[in-house]
Formats: sequence, structure tokens, C-alpha cells
Amino acid sequence: MPVTIRPAKASDEPALGRMGAALARQHHGFDPQRFMVPDDVEAGYRWWLSKEARRPQEAVVLVAELDGDVVGYCYGRLEGVDWNMLLDKHGALHDIWVEAAARGTGTGRLLAEAMVQRLTELGAPRVVLSTAAKNEAARRLFERLGWRATMVEMTRETPPRS
Ligand SMILES: CC(C)(COP(=O)(O)OP(=O)(O)OC[C@H]1O[C@@H](n2cnc3c(N)ncnc32)[C@H](O)[C@@H]1OP(=O)(O)O)[C@@H](O)C(=O)NCCC(=O)NCCS
Repeated sequence: MPVTIRPAKASDEPALGRMGAALARQHHGFDPQRFMVPDDVEAGYRWWLSKEARRPQEAVVLVAELDGDVVGYCYGRLEGVDWNMLLDKHGALHDIWVEAAARGTGTGRLLAEAMVQRLTELGAPRVVLSTAAKNEAARRLFERLGWRATMVEMTRETPPRS
């Protein structure tokens, strides 16, 4: 049965919490100093993504469903002008996750393309995202789908206070 991409609904809340937490832990693994993992990370993602899913004019929460199971999600939102980032009104793709067993069959591509389509419908002239420097699989996916590299975030720890 093919993967279906659809807006998240209330019954997806536990899956959203689980996958959001997995994404946060993955980033923490890339660089534990830069990427925090709050104590209540799963409950926090569950709460936030469910809340965002109820704001369809500004936020987009999509899930990928395969044989009745949720195997991935993508979260984005419409963002306004940001002078600090020199960004005009835009769509932001914040999260994308596909469960390990479902990877490599086009689900990530379907989620990302559906996100771009929905943000376009909401009026976004472009979609901007950030991806961890060590995340080669994600960068490959995004470049294959037409994203170009435009910023490099750098982090330096400060000296301990005396
Ligand atoms: C990044 C991520 C979302 C990609 O999801 P995915 O479902 O594996 O993506 P796709 O299947 O569309 O593409 C992945 C690979 O499968 C290949 N593929 C796509 N469709 C395919 C198919 N039908 N048959 C075989 N291979 C296929 C793609 O060519 C791609 O290969 P490549 O990585 O060598 O270029 C997934 O790896 C993931 O969830 N990673 C952890 C979370 C993460 O890093 N998120 C990004 C944070 S910014």
C-alpha cells in the first residue's frame, strides 16, 4: 500500500510527540552542547505540534501514513519579515522525520514536497530551512529537491565564568 500524506489529526498526537523527541535526540547526538534536549521533550513536542496543527492558516503539520501507521511527519509555518536574518515573508520547514524502517522509499520527498505545496498555498514565496552540519542524509534530500545552501550557522562555547 502506498504512503499517504495528510494533515495531522488529534489521534496522531502520541506519534508526533515520539517523533519530535527522536528528532531532538538525533540533533543532541550531533552536538550535545549546541542542541538541547529538554527533560520533557516528548510531552513538549506532543503539546506544541498538536497546538500548531490546530492553526492551519499559519502552521502546517503533515504526517505520512503507511498501512494505518504514522511513519513520519513534517512541520512548517508561515513566518513574517525577519530583519535579523534579512528574510522577507517566507515559509519555514522546521522539522521532518521518517521512521528508520520507512526510509529510502520516497516518504521524505513526499513530505517535503507536500509541505512546499501547502506553504505556497498559504502565500509563502520561498521555503527556508536549516539542517545540522553533520546531517548528510537530510542535506542530500533537500538539495535533490531544489534547496540551495544559503547560510552557515557557527557555534562557539564561551569561557567558564570565574
Ligand atoms: C532525511 C529523511 C527525512 C529522509 O527521509 P526518506 O524517507 O529516507 O527520504 P527519501 O526516501 O525521499 O530519500 C532518501 C533516499 O532514498 C532514495 N529513494 C527515494 N525513493 C526511493 C525509492 N522509491 N526506491 C529506492 N530509493 C529511493 C533517495 O534517492 C535517497 O537516496 P540518497 O539519500 O542516497 O540521496 C530521513 O532520513 C530522516 O527522517 N532522517 C532523520 C531525521 C532528519 O535528519 N531530519 C532532517 C532534519 S533537518
